[in-house]
Amino acid sequence: MSSIYVDHAATTPMVETCFSAMTAQMLQLGNPSSLHTNGRATRKTLEDARESLAKEIGALPGEIIFTASGTEANNIALKGIFWSARKNGRNVVIISAIEHHAVLDPAHWLAEHEGAEVIQVPVDSEGLIDLDFLQETLNTRRDEIAVISIMHSNNETGVIQPISEVVKLAGEIPVHSDAVQSFKKTPLSFSELGLFALTLSAHKVGGPLGIGALILRRTVEIPALLHGGGQEREIRSGTLNAPGIVGFAVAASSNHYDALRVEELRDSFIAGVRKVIPDATVNGVNAKRLPGIVNITFPGTQSDTLLLLMDGQGVSCSTGSACSAGVHEASHVLIAMGHNVQTAQSSLRFSFGATSTQADVDYVVSVLPDVIARGRAANLS
Ligand SMILES: Cc1ncc(COP(=O)(O)O)c(C=O)c1O
Repeated sequence: MSSIYVDHAATTPMVETCFSAMTAQMLQLGNPSSLHTNGRATRKTLEDARESLAKEIGALPGEIIFTASGTEANNIALKGIFWSARKNGRNVVIISAIEHHAVLDPAHWLAEHEGAEVIQVPVDSEGLIDLDFLQETLNTRRDEIAVISIMHSNNETGVIQPISEVVKLAGEIPVHSDAVQSFKKTPLSFSELGLFALTLSAHKVGGPLGIGALILRRTVEIPALLHGGGQEREIRSGTLNAPGIVGFAVAASSNHYDALRVEELRDSFIAGVRKVIPDATVNGVNAKRLPGIVNITFPGTQSDTLLLLMDGQGVSCSTGSACSAGVHEASHVLIAMGHNVQTAQSSLRFSFGATSTQADVDYVVSVLPDVIARGRAANLS
């Protein structure tokens, strides 16, 4: 049976050069905080990696804070900036309705435990944030707003948000953006966007699991979230994950992802799906999107069933939404775009990446008619 991986938005295959750089680094002895020769050698390697990553994201090396994940970077950004601003009497946290749980949940935690008021910016049927709503909120609540966090692109639909417009409207208010899905897939520069903070994750760009980064302007002072040895501007103590950081930098600078090629595969997939399942609809199809992500609603099906049927055909894809106790919730992203619970639970996410091929596309399209027919039959029984 074929084994087709179309879940690159969940995680990506590791780039070969990253693997070899990491394994070499694993054998290097030396804590980067140690002052002896071994320690200084590791420190030098890490600072070179920091510089290389900074170049890739259009930031200064000193603006990079390494974390253990994109989730951690989002948590530090939201909680840290909120706590800092609260000292000045600001308690409003603005997020979009379609954020990843790694932003949604810390925001709601701040509301439950730290007195934050969370305002969610709605999206239209294409999944684009409502800039008029944001403008109106800024007009009426400007002096109360602690932080604005709007994702650069959505992990379920791939829809790219107008972040530079958000930054323009926000003025002096700190804006954070979760760019985990965008990095290396679409043009992205921290300094050009004028953001205060931005989140990255290595395993979405051919790097290892367990390493992420928060890009944070030097002028933003936030309290320590992890106390200890004072690493990473005293915001995030802990001995640095040297192999992970080296792997992250190598993967990010490898330029193995050809956006145009991936976009062509995606469009060929959409054309194929439309031919074999004419009532399928592509979510966010009219918006500017990432090259690799396609979210499709197949009326009259249940996404959990489709996922298993696809898996039975050797295809790894995703429902895109969070899983709780083994059952996928209806996607809050699709609901925010106007779906009802039923149609939101009839959708699958296919995500193509650097290793995807036209043969993958053709195979997935070829198994779809049978999968959807069986999915519809199961839904009726
Ligand atoms: C948009 C977005 N933000 C954050 C994350 C979390 O990143 P990590 O897996 O590094 O914690 C993900 C991962 O799926 C994501 O897609």
